[in-house]
Amino acid sequence: MQLNIPLVSFIALAFTAVAANATTNTSSSVVSTKTVTYCPTTTPVPVCPPLTQTIPLRRMWNGDLTSHFYSTYGLEVAQFGTQGYSEEPPQGRVYATQVDGTVPLWRCNLNQGTPQIDYFYTADAAEFQAQVAGGCQVMPDPAAAGISQGIGYLHPRPQCNAVPLYRLYSSARFDHFYTINETERQNNINTGLYADQGITGYVIPN
Ligand SMILES: *[C@@H]1O[C@H](CO)[C@@H](O)[C@H](O)[C@H]1NC(C)=O
Ligand SMILES: *[C@@H]1O[C@H](CO)[C@@H](O)[C@H](O)[C@H]1NC(C)=O
Repeated sequence: MQLNIPLVSFIALAFTAVAANATTNTSSSVVSTKTVTYCPTTTPVPVCPPLTQTIPLRRMWNGDLTSHFYSTYGLEVAQFGTQGYSEEPPQGRVYATQVDGTVPLWRCNLNQGTPQIDYFYTADAAEFQAQVAGGCQVMPDPAAAGISQGIGYLHPRPQCNAVPLYRLYSSARFDHFYTINETERQNNINTGLYADQGITGYVIPN
């Protein structure tokens, strides 16, 4: 669509120029050289959404259940706060509504009975569907927070200054762990407690 607007303008301008010239001068050589500048010569730079459209990706931890929990919805954070979870630093910011160049961050619960609770998050729709098919329980979307899919939206690629949201997994703890902190990620891999599971997506820095 980006291309069509200048193109339409080009045609309109060319037509206007020809029409205007036709009354005074039948030569169209001036028209063609002038209007060439309206054609885009480079790929348009992606427009990054304003930061005012982002919300914190909040992280919580329950040591008794060895369970991390992530949410963008204040009431949910408050509710988990009454269930033994304490809040940790937010792991960047995600978009509250889906904007160009973003995908939903899906969530489900790999609950195998308390304390075997593991909240799982992914931006890969196929992986999410496979987990759900395998028994991962879909949690209600925080629709009250205006989020209709998952818990928000993030970039699948590094753009708009977004940083990697790393995913780690501990089978001993039955816990998926997400962080934007490179040191924290490396420390947890070095101890052998968590295994590197790559990058979930890219979030806006805090
Ligand atoms: C018509 O346009 C041509 C090309 O720009 C120019 O050389 C010529 O002098 C113009 N004639 C008139 C009558 O304006
Ligand atoms: C990153 O993690 C390290 C190790 O846990 C911690 O000392 C540091 O304060 C963290 N940095 C930020 C910006 O949170």
